[in-house]
Parts: sequence; structure tokens; C-alpha cells
Amino acid sequence: MVSEIKNKERVFIGSVSEFEKEGGVSAKIGDKQIAIFYFDSRNEWYACDNACPHTGDMVLSRGFLGDTNGEPKVVCPLHKRNYSLTSGECLSGEHYKVNVYPVIVENGSVYVEIDTSDKK
Ligand code: FES
Repeated sequence: MVSEIKNKERVFIGSVSEFEKEGGVSAKIGDKQIAIFYFDSRNEWYACDNACPHTGDMVLSRGFLGDTNGEPKVVCPLHKRNYSLTSGECLSGEHYKVNVYPVIVENGSVYVEIDTSDKK
């Protein structure tokens, strides 16, 4: 299910019940792979690129959730670089960055909002 919102597109990912608490899933949107996280202990949802910018491997959906001084983050399962789930910045002091995307949860359904220009 897809609905248009100005120049944004809301893409249905799945039902809340399909998500593992404190975990992530990956979804393909166009040519992009997005990682969507259910941060149950904070009652928050986040989404970012699934590709870790360190190597380009599609692994961030299998990363570990945590926080640094309250900043929610995902820790790459391969070499443990940390990425903010709000800004996408690498919290490990390096220049890497991931794109982050708004997540909307409505009536038990989870959506990611992307720029249509990003959907290739
Ligand atoms: S592949 Fe993610 S930190 Fe190296």
C-alpha cells in the first residue's frame, strides 16, 4: 500500500506484530534497501540505509540497538561502527554517514516515508 504525500511517498513495510522487539528488518524500496528498527525499550521506531557505509554490506538491519548519551544508535554487526538513528552520523568519530528516514506507525501498520527522488 502506497500513498502520495506531496513529494514524499509513504511505503507500507508491515504490521507492528511482524517486527521483533529491539530488532530490525530490511525492506527493498525501489533499488534501495532500508533497515527499519523497533526500539521497543524506548517505544520508538527508526529507519536508515541497510548498507553500512564502511564496506557497503547490507548488514545494518542485523545491527545491535543502543544509545550513546541518550542518542539512539545502531551498531554495525561487522566492525562495530556506531550510527545515530536520528542524524545518521557515525558516532565512532569517522566521516561515514547513513541516510535516515521517518517511520510512521498508524493503526498497527508501519510505514517509511521516502523522497520520491530517492526511489530509483
Ligand atoms: S561493515 Fe559496518 S563497520 Fe565495517
